[in-house]
Amino acid sequence: MQDRIAHRLHDFDSGKIRQAFELAKEIPNQIDLSIGFPEENTPEEVKQAGITAIQQNHTTYLPTNGLAELRQSIAQKLAAENNIRSSAEDITVTPGLTTAILLCYLAILNPGDEIILPQPMFPPYYELTKLAGAVPVPLETFPDFQLSAELIARKITEKTKAIVINSPNNPTGAVYDEDELRKIAGLAKQHGIIIISDEIYEYFSFDKPHFSIGSIYEGTITLNGFSKAYAMTGWRVGYICAPPDIVEAINQLQQYIVFSTSSIAQYAAVKALETPPIYLTDKYKQKRDLAVSTLSDVFPEIHGGQGAFYLFLKLPDGLEDIKVVNQLSHSGVIVLPGSAFCGRTDYIRISFAGDMDALRTGLERLKESIAALLRNSP
Ligand SMILES: Cc1ncc(COP(=O)(O)O)c(C=O)c1O
Repeated sequence: MQDRIAHRLHDFDSGKIRQAFELAKEIPNQIDLSIGFPEENTPEEVKQAGITAIQQNHTTYLPTNGLAELRQSIAQKLAAENNIRSSAEDITVTPGLTTAILLCYLAILNPGDEIILPQPMFPPYYELTKLAGAVPVPLETFPDFQLSAELIARKITEKTKAIVINSPNNPTGAVYDEDELRKIAGLAKQHGIIIISDEIYEYFSFDKPHFSIGSIYEGTITLNGFSKAYAMTGWRVGYICAPPDIVEAINQLQQYIVFSTSSIAQYAAVKALETPPIYLTDKYKQKRDLAVSTLSDVFPEIHGGQGAFYLFLKLPDGLEDIKVVNQLSHSGVIVLPGSAFCGRTDYIRISFAGDMDALRTGLERLKESIAALLRNSP
């Protein structure tokens, strides 16, 4: 009998992040330090815009590339905040940034094309490359998790089609310097490489301003969305800003894969762009500082904290991430294994996005559990 499940899924990673979420459900009274969303709620006026859209029957299909008013507002936002010149026609609204990744890949990658993927990285970038038949080329950024043109140059071949950049970064919390991004843009231009820039955490950059590489390199596909900036993870609305030929290809694909993104979410997103983003740099900095000071005794290296809301913690020698994650869950704290984001097993990722009280308790549990593991390890 033939396999019911397609072969393309054979080496698909089933998702260590999902497993951690399952663990969180199984064990009661957990403090969840794995969450990838801000503790705030969607702003009231944005919620109201969604409700009004339903009441006014804006509940039908929208154009495949998105509501014209929303695309217009996105183009204005990109010009004002990111220095990216675009028009509404260069924008496609997608059901979250995650869908945008697949659409971009299918639009630009041929079988055998190589795509440079700095590691560690948000997992869909790696897994979906394989779905597109292309070749993921991991680029290790250990030990400092900074990306440089020099590192990238070592991975470029005649098959290199694109490179993914994510700053502020999930999971490392790194934010790349403007100078380095300028060098990377120069390198990409020289080799005709497309840059895919994921800027979903742009408002969570604590110590230096966020810089959009799309402002200086026309071969950039900028990906962003409303999930983190407006605490709208469940609404599923993101967007792509790309050169005209790529946007056209993406729209063709989106027509058959998505047809159109939720109308209700798009009307709410229009209102979001009229509302200040929920980013509360000082509040998140405080949470970061609490996390760093609580954990500095037990972890040999604490990375991140420049941006996004994650710390990437090097485990003490002899501890392995999956085992640690399982043991921590029994001590009432959920974290993610580093190997969900890269090939290494000596890191874990925590999020400090949650509520301050829960965070404090979670950090104490984490610290005590790691100390206990160290006492008991041979
Ligand atoms: C780097 C990165 N990009 C994209 C996403 C997902 O964005 P969306 O909710 O718009 O699909 C996440 C979520 O954690 C992320 O960390």
